Amino acid sequence: MRIETTKILAALPGMGVELWRGVLLAQLTSLAIGGTTDLLRISRHEAIPELLNLLDENGIAHKFLGGGSNLLVVDGELPFVVLQLSHPNPDLVVEGNIANVDAAADLGKMVTFCAKHNLGGMEGLIGVPGTVGGALRMNAGAYGTQIGSHVREIKVYKAAARKIETLKGDQISFEYRHTSFAPDDMMLAVKLELPSKPYSEILQGIRICNEKRRASQPLGQKSAGCIFKNPVGASAGRMIDELGLKGHSKGDARISDRHANFFVNSGRATATDMLGLINDVRERVQKVYGVTLENEVVVWNA
Ligand code: EPU
Repeated sequence: MRIETTKILAALPGMGVELWRGVLLAQLTSLAIGGTTDLLRISRHEAIPELLNLLDENGIAHKFLGGGSNLLVVDGELPFVVLQLSHPNPDLVVEGNIANVDAAADLGKMVTFCAKHNLGGMEGLIGVPGTVGGALRMNAGAYGTQIGSHVREIKVYKAAARKIETLKGDQISFEYRHTSFAPDDMMLAVKLELPSKPYSEILQGIRICNEKRRASQPLGQKSAGCIFKNPVGASAGRMIDELGLKGHSKGDARISDRHANFFVNSGRATATDMLGLINDVRERVQKVYGVTLENEVVVWNA
């Protein structure tokens, strides 16, 4: 979708919003899949309510992009524009046991920055690609760590109220890869409360998690992490593996040989290939195990 409305185009510079024309989302997603649209890069949180009012008044649909690492976008010209926060400087500040982090900050950078300030508790998240905002929205987790457990406060654009609000950690429910935020709420910044730990000890934890991840996940390949959520008490990866589906493919969308819940783009996979593979696997698992796997990857359909 291209923004042609003169009123919007004229207002963007004053709001600190940069317009990137006709961006191919395949270049902004870890799966390297996705069609074309206009991208609005936001440098001031305070401009968001006004920007979204303008878009709504002019019937321009929008979606928020974080780091694009847990996302499958359909191909072709997209019927919505995409909004993304640009990094402020600094995007990370530590005060005692509190890390003040902008949602646009890189998750891994945040973990190591906190570690250098002797703040731990996030070791398991090392190696999870994406932004802090994306991790908050999904309550990202790995190796026993979930980001939601450390949230003291979140600054968020609440779409329903059309305003920026600050929520306390206990006003938000963080569950397994799910939060109480509405799909069109936008994470802006967070205060994380982290336990003090010596840097050397945190580094050791980080090394252990890195090794586990390297041994079990296809890190160098184009993927969106795990495609399906784990059903209660079971592992989606193990089920798909037990069905002998490693290496199974549709076009260039392929089930990883290393971890069966990772689907990789081994060349020029399209969204249709990837969605076809996802549906195929869901049907096979349903047939044999009687379990309907739920997507963990976020899908932006047209
Ligand atoms: N397994 C297989 N074959 C496979 C994959 C896994 O037999 O192809 C077995 C493993 O041997 C293990 C069990 O299944 O006994 C669980 O596997 P793993 O430890 O790799 O964990 P997972 O449940 O597949 C979850 C998260 C990952 C996270 C890891 C580590 C989900 C959907 N996945 O994977 O998160 O990194 O634990 O904590 O919750 C993600 O969210 O995108 C993601 C990759």
